[in-house]
Amino acid sequence: MAVRKIIRMGHPTLRKVAQPVAPAAIGTAAFARLLADMIDTLHDYGGVGLAAPQIDESIRLAIIEVPGGPTRYGEVPSLPLTVFVNPRVQVIDETLNGVWEGCLSVPGLRGYVERPGGVRVDALDRQGQPQTLELSGFLATVLQHEFDHLDGKLYIDRLADPAKLMFEEEFLRWTQ
Ligand code: NI
Repeated sequence: MAVRKIIRMGHPTLRKVAQPVAPAAIGTAAFARLLADMIDTLHDYGGVGLAAPQIDESIRLAIIEVPGGPTRYGEVPSLPLTVFVNPRVQVIDETLNGVWEGCLSVPGLRGYVERPGGVRVDALDRQGQPQTLELSGFLATVLQHEFDHLDGKLYIDRLADPAKLMFEEEFLRWTQ
């Protein structure tokens, strides 16, 4: 296990559409090692989600772990560490929900993004078993943000208003 370097906006891998994970790869030692590295990296950098392209692995794999309670995103519900392989998302609630998002690949900034308030995701889990989750609000935002990375998109592409992109220090000073 190892903490990997998170690549930042400007690195071409962040703008690529990632390849599906071959189901046969899921049980392998190499896959387990990559996943362990992603978990270590997420914990070391202190985020709530990480997509494989962020460590320069252009495959459709993401992890999300949201500790409940007060975070830098305010008071949020929790989601235990969940692994998503080849996720497919369906919007189940179009009502827009606005969140001041941040991204480990765009460090030091926060931007206001409005996304559908409810989604259903079908994906494989870390054993390659199908799993379905329905999430709403903040957790639906985290999920959509992470899966955007698999399609070469960053939250800054989705700003509701370009004026609502701020350095985190200014965000904390002026909008809290
Ligand atoms: Ni991100």
